[in-house]
Amino acid sequence: MNNRIYIFDTTLRDGEQSPGASMTTEQKFEIAVQLEQLGVDAIEAGFPVSSPHQFSACKKIAAEVRNTTITALARSVEPDINAAAEALKPAAHPRIHTFIASSPIHMEYKLKMKSDDVLEQAVKGVTYARKFVPEVEFSPEDATRSDLAFLIRLIEKVIDAGATIINIPDTVGYAVPDEFGAFITAIREGVPNMDKALLSVHCHNDLGLGVANSLTAVRRGARQIECTINGIGERAGNAALEEIVMALEVRKDSFGCTTAINTKQIYNTSRLLSNIIAFPIARNKPIVGDNAFAHESGIHQDGMLKHRETYEIMRPDQVGREFSHIVLGRHSGMHGFQKRLSELGIRLTDAEKKNAFDRFLELADRKKEVFDEDLLVISGEVLGRQTATYNLEYFNILSGNVSVPTATIRLKINDETREEAATGDGPVDAIFRAIDRVTEIPTTLLEYNVLAVTPGKQALGEVSVILRIHDATYLGKGSSTDILEASARAYVNALNRYKLTETSAGCPESL
Ligand code: KIV
Ligand code: ZN
Repeated sequence: MNNRIYIFDTTLRDGEQSPGASMTTEQKFEIAVQLEQLGVDAIEAGFPVSSPHQFSACKKIAAEVRNTTITALARSVEPDINAAAEALKPAAHPRIHTFIASSPIHMEYKLKMKSDDVLEQAVKGVTYARKFVPEVEFSPEDATRSDLAFLIRLIEKVIDAGATIINIPDTVGYAVPDEFGAFITAIREGVPNMDKALLSVHCHNDLGLGVANSLTAVRRGARQIECTINGIGERAGNAALEEIVMALEVRKDSFGCTTAINTKQIYNTSRLLSNIIAFPIARNKPIVGDNAFAHESGIHQDGMLKHRETYEIMRPDQVGREFSHIVLGRHSGMHGFQKRLSELGIRLTDAEKKNAFDRFLELADRKKEVFDEDLLVISGEVLGRQTATYNLEYFNILSGNVSVPTATIRLKINDETREEAATGDGPVDAIFRAIDRVTEIPTTLLEYNVLAVTPGKQALGEVSVILRIHDATYLGKGSSTDILEASARAYVNALNRYKLTETSAGCPESL
């Protein structure tokens, strides 16, 4: 059996149906271009008949994204299929995806149709769609709550009518893995002409089983998986592309399957989508969450420092992330603490280290995460001197909707004080430019993230930045109730890390 798994991305169709995730045509296009970079086999660009905007977004993607199959959704009726065919006209590799519900509950209450009429309409839809394109996918909606014998009959007939891909949707996320696996086997073995079409699955996540069900289907012979970036989609969403792809990659020994995904593009794609639709990614989300490669407990940090694979089953760079992160907090031990101090270029005697560690634990009890900034202060206190090169003394921002944002920054640099002003595209940009003028260090801002650490109007905001300076990257974090101040602190923190490592070897982010 062919062991290539085709990845069908429906972020722009089912994903966009997530409440609050609608995108403009330009935004959809930007995501489609990135999905092509990621290497998905098919992009479902939208549901053209549903609105003029859906139609034009599909058409633009079809015209300009040339290296992947572009799919458009249509109910099994002529007006939908006409709209899909028209939107797909410019596509290099078009596919029409028709569907009709096959479960008793959908047929009775939603469609108000008898099963034989559903079968006839499905066949008509596929036959009609094949007049426009050589690839037609058919989905019996709510398949997992359908009568198996009816489903088998329906699938056989639509394959005879020309369907080239049969997609089995678990529309309401009702299936559980062993049952879903048996269902897929029953379809594979029961549909006499199943070998004439590619078998696909489309699993929703209402019980958190979307990925597990999809992977079980792979074991039972499904060769296309429908999924979305970050798992967005109707209600609780669809199976997450990044989880499926990395499960197949990391557990190649078990699945023996491959995809065409460039896994190094996973993180980029996830961030792009999250920024465009303004859906934050949960910190603990597999693969793409902030904590996915972060280690806090002392035992884990110790293990990681001795041998990365003790606590990591994949490397962050495999998914396009820059580094693993040792988080210093109340669960951290002396080992991780000591390692971070030496990465920061701070050398302490054993007695000083003990003293600093006690102070660190005291602080960790009060704070969720102890940043490098805090370690610099702690070790400065222990040593009775200042260890940070730059200290933010003062900043002032002039901003508004009619004035050019201007920042004035005063930094204490060892014993000297320097002040500079700069304008920018926005207040944060102005701050960073003013700091650059003071320090005269050539920096490139690679990442800028804001996170509300505490809820409410007086929320404490945490800003993290990643700067590239010469050939290394430096992470900086700062927190304050004022986001602009947190931004300035994060930037200064990254520069302090650079100054410390200027004299000591090693990249500060990497383990
Ligand atoms: O969940 C579902 O059933 C769908 C179909 C249109 C494939 O999204
Ligand atoms: Zn769906």
